[in-house]
Amino acid sequence: LRVGLLFGGCSGEHEVSINSARAIAKALSAEQNASKYEILPFYIQKDGRWLAGNVSQQVLESGQPLQLPRSNPEPQENQLGSDSSQLSTADRLSFSRWQSPSQVAEVDVWFPILHGPNGEDGTVQGLLTLMQVPFVGSGVLGSAMGMDKIAMKMAFAQAGLPQVKYMAVNRSQIWSNPCVFPKLCDQIELNLGYPCFIKPANLGSSVGIAKARSRQELETALDNAASYDRRIIVEAGVIARELECAVLGNDQPQASVVGEITYSSDFYDYETKYTQGKADLVIPATVSDAVTRQIQEMALQAFAAIDAGGLARVDFFYVEATGEVLINEINTLPGFTATSMYPLLWAHSGVSFPELVDRLIQLALE
Ligand code: ADP
Ligand code: DAL
Ligand code: MG
Repeated sequence: LRVGLLFGGCSGEHEVSINSARAIAKALSAEQNASKYEILPFYIQKDGRWLAGNVSQQVLESGQPLQLPRSNPEPQENQLGSDSSQLSTADRLSFSRWQSPSQVAEVDVWFPILHGPNGEDGTVQGLLTLMQVPFVGSGVLGSAMGMDKIAMKMAFAQAGLPQVKYMAVNRSQIWSNPCVFPKLCDQIELNLGYPCFIKPANLGSSVGIAKARSRQELETALDNAASYDRRIIVEAGVIARELECAVLGNDQPQASVVGEITYSSDFYDYETKYTQGKADLVIPATVSDAVTRQIQEMALQAFAAIDAGGLARVDFFYVEATGEVLINEINTLPGFTATSMYPLLWAHSGVSFPELVDRLIQLALE
């Protein structure tokens, strides 16, 4: 079976995606999978161009994104390093020409491992659906619902899942009308208080997220979030432990053991997420069996609530002071590097990394 490994992508999580794809490629080459699967790598550059063949393979092997100079958007030989091969026409798949290289047509099943907008949000899933080739993970609806924090929270509320108080805000309330903005801030202060979290609705890896403790911080954070997204969510801040659960399956999904993220920074921001040593994963989390079961149950409900498929990581706040478990979010294409929570949760649940990718591909073919 030829697996089209789709990685990179136009989002702030491009580099994470390359690392996820490297780990998946390694797992597909592991002894138990090597005779079953052949990998066809497809690298989506930050500007949206698709590359196949040698160049893609090289990005996968080196782990380094392909940098394009602003003045000359055409990839050049020297950007790939001195020993790299020439970029052939067949390696370059822009949408206008994408049907010409035969490699796209050769793919039996796609494994998109793109994080964030333009990959985790239903856009690529729409394209793959149109191509009528099976793919790993959620379809258009589940991906879109899982990306947009406002839509996600509406689905969770409908499913009766407890979550923090929040308000949905549109950019126009922040930028367009100077009379509206102070009223909006008043409402946020009244409904949510401080601290509150201000987030662009459609990003990941904590990009654009800020914690506000005062009116001034709130105003700055809203203005900043509006520069990332039209849709913004503001949430009441909670003091809580952060627990995560992995889900695998389609209509009868399973939940993994529960893991915890620990860190000493103010919150789990981008730097904490991606700086070695700033955060630790504790698997299994040291919580009671009752809390574990509650989280597993809620994870499966959240998975169904957004119509997710294949895989998802569901993240929770555990407010130890009150014993409350609140759902924070679902990630339909969670980080998949060798040290990421999703594969580690499954490893601790008895599913090795190679077996995990095998099962995901088989689930795509169901
Ligand atoms: P992302 O999708 O970018 O991961 P999250 O909504 O998970 O965004 O927020 C990132 C981090 O910010 C969380 O892991 C947590 O540390 C902190 N955080 C977000 N919302 C809240 C909240 N309402 N209360 C307390 N901490 C929060
Ligand atoms: N968005 C990152 C990759 C995650 O959820 O793990
Ligand atoms: Mg998160």
